[in-house]
This record gives sequence, structure tokens and C-alpha cells, in this order.
Amino acid sequence: MGNESDLNRRKFMEIGIYTITSAITAVSGVALARFAVGTSFEKKKSKWIELNSEDVRDADEGFARVVLEYEQKDGWLTATTRSLAYVKRIKEDEVIAISASCSHLGCIVTWDEEQKIFKCPCHDGRYDMEGKVISGPPPGPLRRHKTKIEDGTIMLATETVPYGGDTHERA
Ligand code: FES
Repeated sequence: MGNESDLNRRKFMEIGIYTITSAITAVSGVALARFAVGTSFEKKKSKWIELNSEDVRDADEGFARVVLEYEQKDGWLTATTRSLAYVKRIKEDEVIAISASCSHLGCIVTWDEEQKIFKCPCHDGRYDMEGKVISGPPPGPLRRHKTKIEDGTIMLATETVPYGGDTHERA
């Protein structure tokens, strides 16, 4: 009888110890994983960058090449980021900004004013003036930067959206 009660007590203690150990392991595992991953999966914040309106051409004058330079926080690191966009005014109060980053492997595309196409030098990808693929390996159109005009000031968002996404923000 005494032996049986000792066994039950021992079993109870074992289960208790296993439960507590498992709980501590689970909680510290989650905390360690959070520490290891840091903020790397957090969405990067978009910023609005002001453009000189004289840099932005009218529709019939082709695209202006605009370099966007801004500070960006990536995880624990803050670095200066540069990207390139092709910008053009399509209406008095509407500007489009096409990202120069090729949708294939990210090379910088160039605007060919004579042929009215974007060309990628890396694998000969071609896009029309809307950024839609004409030929080559790119899997999809060029992305767009969001744009807005506030009190006559043209602004571009550092964030890009897929072609066909909502790119205009009204003030
Ligand atoms: S990176 Fe542009 S076609 Fe390959």
C-alpha cells in the first residue's frame, strides 16, 4: 500500500516536472526565435519624396529619370537606399512613376525614347511604355511608385505596387 502511494506521488512529481520544463522550453524558444528574427519581417515603411516639378516632363516629352535616395531601416540596420524611377506627367494633376527595377532579376532598365520601350540590358527583357512585357524573360510588368500632387508639389512614394495597383493618392 505504502509503495503504491509512493509510486503515485513519484509519477505525479514526474508529470509536474515535465510539464513545467516543457512550458519553460516553449516560452524561451519563442523569445529566442523573436530575438533571432528581429524586425526583419516587419514591412518597410514607405516614404514620400518631393520632386522638382521642372524634372518631370509632360506626356509627349518622354520619361524623366529620377533617382530616389532615402534612409531605410532594415532590421537593425539603417542604410541609404537608392532606386531609379521613370516619371512622366500624364494629366495636369496626375503623374506616373515606373520603377526601373526589372521584374526578372532586378537589373536597371533604360528608357529608349526612339523605340518608346524600356530595355533591360541583362537578359534583353523589353517592356512597352506602360511597363508591360513585350519580350524576354521578365515574368511580369514593371512595378509603379505611388504618386501624389500636394499644392503643386509632386511626390513619389518609395514603396512600389504591382502594375494595375492603386498608385494615385489624392491630397
Ligand atoms: S534582369 Fe532584366 S531581363 Fe533579366
